[in-house]
Amino acid sequence: MNEEIYDEHRDYIEALGDWKRTHTAGELRKEDVGKEVCIMGWVQRKRVVASAVFVILRDRYGLVQIAFSKEQEELYRKASLVRSEYVIAVKGIVQERPQGMSNTAMPTGEIEITPIECKILNVSKTPPFVIEDAIEANEDTRLTYRYLDLRRQVMTKNIILRSKVAYAVRRFFIKKGFLEIETPFLIRATPEGARDYLVPSRVHEGKFFSLPQSPQQFKQLLMMSGFDRYFQIVRCFRDEDLRADRQPEFTQIDVELSFATEEVIQQIAEEMIAYVMKESIGQEISLPLPRMTYKEAMERYGVDKPDTRFGMELISCTECFRSSTIEAFAQAETIKALCVPRSFTRKEIDIYTDFVKRYGATGLGVIKVTSQGWESPLIKACPDALSLLQERISAQEGDTILIQAGNEDIVNAGLGNLRVYIAEYCGMIPEDVFNLLWITDFPLFEEDKENNRFVACHHPFTSIHPDDTELLFTDTKHVRARAYDMVLNGTEIGGGSIRNYTIQQQRDIFQALGFSEEEAYAQFGYFLEALEYGTPPHGGIAFGFDRIVALLAGTQSIRDVIPFPKTQKATCLMTSAPSVASQEQLEELHIHITRDEKRD
Ligand code: AMO
Repeated sequence: MNEEIYDEHRDYIEALGDWKRTHTAGELRKEDVGKEVCIMGWVQRKRVVASAVFVILRDRYGLVQIAFSKEQEELYRKASLVRSEYVIAVKGIVQERPQGMSNTAMPTGEIEITPIECKILNVSKTPPFVIEDAIEANEDTRLTYRYLDLRRQVMTKNIILRSKVAYAVRRFFIKKGFLEIETPFLIRATPEGARDYLVPSRVHEGKFFSLPQSPQQFKQLLMMSGFDRYFQIVRCFRDEDLRADRQPEFTQIDVELSFATEEVIQQIAEEMIAYVMKESIGQEISLPLPRMTYKEAMERYGVDKPDTRFGMELISCTECFRSSTIEAFAQAETIKALCVPRSFTRKEIDIYTDFVKRYGATGLGVIKVTSQGWESPLIKACPDALSLLQERISAQEGDTILIQAGNEDIVNAGLGNLRVYIAEYCGMIPEDVFNLLWITDFPLFEEDKENNRFVACHHPFTSIHPDDTELLFTDTKHVRARAYDMVLNGTEIGGGSIRNYTIQQQRDIFQALGFSEEEAYAQFGYFLEALEYGTPPHGGIAFGFDRIVALLAGTQSIRDVIPFPKTQKATCLMTSAPSVASQEQLEELHIHITRDEKRD
């Protein structure tokens, strides 16, 4: 915008004085015709015609039209001055729009306001993008000017939904007798916390706090304190690689209960989700939710967070290829197939092959189901496979069967993710469907091959499945946990477990994780000690609040429902955080930066 106009127009700014807003822009309807109102907001658009200036005024509630007629000279002159994003206040009378002039796209489209008085409360430079729902601006520009981005109605709606969801969560838990209790943000840093954000202590030279990845130990300590039903909507911090559904600081709905089994916890958790969905978007969910074990999810979908809105499950066919002349098939640990009701071009198959290679696959076999039969080099190399495959896969003419052979983890990850990728690409996923389910009986440990040890799949406070206690030190890899996740449309929205509440259970787990008694006490001594003062049996769950709001809002990225999110590179473009600290600050914190290139 021309700087001169901006400077000149600043002279037109008037004080609010004693004007009071009587109505919001979005609420006026035909029933309000004849009322004198005072509204305030931003100029969304201005349209000048021969006899009038029409201004569309926006606030967070909606849009309304104000018609400044040429006959009202003084008002018309003022309206001619206003530009996009000027803040104005208008006193006027609500009128029905003239015949044929209604705008059905606007909830206030049957009326308009005839002004009596108007004030320009503030002026605005020309914004870097138009404040409308469909805009071309890239996300970096939107994040740099987030306060403008949030004025767009789509974004405003998301933030309103976020507030509604938070309110529904609180109402639900308070009604059920839970207490909302805060836990600290400055906590003890542990050597294990590779993904912790560290905060230097000024008072204690060389010492650090860390920011919590979750309030896990504190909520358990609250159970030990006797607060048998706790919840908190709480910020968590994780310095991990980011994706569309991950942020370095995100919000959890954190829950813990004493004297409760997994059935009790899951029932409360699913009732909460059903209540929140009903209250916030009017969506009914039938309870109880389906349950599926981790083992079954991996077999049928290849992933532990299956999207069950569509079928196209993975089909195990390891045994069909035992006589193959292709060694990778004859000797494969696992072979699975995906039967897609589509035919694909060579180029599409290449894209899918590259896709599974990202998960470690060496290739992707293809069988085309044509009017001539099942065609594939895989069948030429193993004629016996044909009838065995046909017994398992009920394919139709025109289908394509994609086959992957290899290590079980790689096959599951490759085909499991390809299943969703193809379904999205081919438009096979129904919209406006909310498929929720529980995944249960997760493994307790996973192998950390690099360091030749086991790590906890969930966290080390999760207790062992009662049927697997004998296996803890003999078949550690196959021990199951009393852990469960809630999955919504292929996204993990929550996870929790029953905890170790006796000192012996907890010591055993630390031992299986390769901690010596001294190491365990050096890191978690306070917690292990607390366990010895009468800890009740307890368990809990935490939901990803941002993920839930994003799914309810129908957006792919949690950045769209967080008012001021970080970028994929964990920076804030609006405030340019993180930033360099002054030498003085660093000295006070006893920090010495040794490598200059780190200070950009
Ligand atoms: P967990 O690590 O599974 O469990 O986290 C719970 C839920 O939080 C969400 N989530 C995230 N959302 C956005 N950005 C992230 N970086 C991110 N990381 C996790 C997910 C996830 O399901 N203390 C345990 C819970 C318990 O055992 O009670 C915990 O934090 O939706």
